[in-house]
Amino acid sequence: MDIEDVKKAVAREALSFVEDDMIVGLGTGSTTAHFIRLLGKKVMEEELEIYGIPTSHQSRLLAIESGIPTVSMDEVDAIDLAVDGADEVDPELNLIKGRGAALTMEKIIEYRAGTFLVLVDESKLVERLGQKMPVPIEVIPAAWRAIAEELEVFNAEAELRMAVKKDGPVITDNGNFILDARFALIEDPLDMEMELNSIPGVVENGIFADIADVVLVGTPEGVRRLER
Ligand code: A5P
Repeated sequence: MDIEDVKKAVAREALSFVEDDMIVGLGTGSTTAHFIRLLGKKVMEEELEIYGIPTSHQSRLLAIESGIPTVSMDEVDAIDLAVDGADEVDPELNLIKGRGAALTMEKIIEYRAGTFLVLVDESKLVERLGQKMPVPIEVIPAAWRAIAEELEVFNAEAELRMAVKKDGPVITDNGNFILDARFALIEDPLDMEMELNSIPGVVENGIFADIADVVLVGTPEGVRRLER
């Protein structure tokens, strides 16, 4: 079983959380992409009345391609379910997200969802956040250098994320820059999440403490379910 099969299996399992008439937050990334495609099929085959709220241009385009009607947050009273991937998951189900630079809309939508369901493969499980991945921080462009310097107070080394098929830095869907911050130690994820967001010029950071309800973990042997 290769990694894409594992991701697909997790995405398939996530379909069991979807019911007719739901408003579903659509996450960003390679695992969620499988979910969005499978959800499109389910909506068509079972003639469901589902609306998706995309967390990024990527998920909006995929939803359109998959035949899932989309709405924006200000058109709905509530979000029933949000489904998204993650870069790291600790034993308390705190997350690091934002490898795809979509962390701000992801957090806005997932924070408000009735159920936030996370889809990962077992390589994303860590003992402590920051063990493998840096914490992405979306910042107002003019403030990037000042914020990078300020992060030294937290014992973090920050790097401006550079684009691959564009010269210069990555520009987020919101028109901002991303700093990738490597921390020596994140002792208290919730506290660090709050502290980072209190720096002027920080739009949002990729620590998602205390908001995941269920994590589905794909392994070659099957899908495991972790709950808070
Ligand atoms: C997008 O900004 C990220 O938060 C993704 O949700 C996260 O990186 C997981 O992506 P994969 O499913 O591609 O690993």
